[in-house]
Amino acid sequence: MKILEATDIFAGYGKSEILHGVSIYLGQKEVVTIIGPNGAGKSTLLKALMGYIPISRGKLTWKGEDVTHLKPHVKVRKGFGYVPQLGNVFPSLSVLENLEMGGFIQSKQVVREKIEKAFQLFPILKEKRGEKAGTLSGGQRQMLGMARALMTEPELLMLDEPSAGLSPKVSEEVFRTIADIHNRLGRSIIIIEQDAYQSLNISDRGYVLVMGQNEFDDKAENILSNQKIKEAYLGG
Ligand SMILES: Nc1ncnc2c1ncn2[C@@H]1O[C@H](COP(=O)(O)OP(=O)(O)O)[C@@H](O)[C@H]1O
Ligand SMILES: [Mg+2]
Repeated sequence: MKILEATDIFAGYGKSEILHGVSIYLGQKEVVTIIGPNGAGKSTLLKALMGYIPISRGKLTWKGEDVTHLKPHVKVRKGFGYVPQLGNVFPSLSVLENLEMGGFIQSKQVVREKIEKAFQLFPILKEKRGEKAGTLSGGQRQMLGMARALMTEPELLMLDEPSAGLSPKVSEEVFRTIADIHNRLGRSIIIIEQDAYQSLNISDRGYVLVMGQNEFDDKAENILSNQKIKEAYLGG
């Protein structure tokens, strides 16, 4: 079953159109990676899917329901989760306070339970719970961003370059955690990545986006063994 389906999406910023008819879908419990050169419109696509910028043409459905023009907070209630580039944490708040904010729409008791669950998935955050998020390393900050997004128990998690700026070792840990979120919690996940090997390794399918349009899509394993695509978009 397709849980999310974007068909022929046009979107941009004011008069500047960035997405010129992009189509992607996500099956239930699928992990999909979107790759493509810098400036291709990958982040813009996530913002449009989440409702942070309007979709001017095209259609977005969520479990068959038309959600093309819904606002982000409504989408959050329907099960959308989003972690923008750089993790979206509040540096001057503690780890615990960041998680509490992520659970804003729920009762205190429920928030406490969810934070306990988050600490099971991200033990490092438990250790650091009293420290300001601004003092965390890049990898820990990314973990906190994901943990925060998970506070609303989204069925869909959209991650914008979760490994940006991280060392290979730390980024490996981040991808292991993403695979965990998928396997243990059964979430459907869309990942945007420039360094796509690790991301495709934990994905079912992948899309290549170029200049605001679909260039190519296939099973992740096929993309990883496609010499042409590898040379063009995965650094050889
Ligand atoms: N807030 C914004 N206002 C105007 N233009 C933007 C904004 N954010 C991104 N853009 C433009 O949209 C295009 C695509 O950017 P982006 O979606 O960030 O690409 P990618 O994530 O694939 O690197 C770029 O030309 C960029 O300059
Ligand atoms: Mg981007």
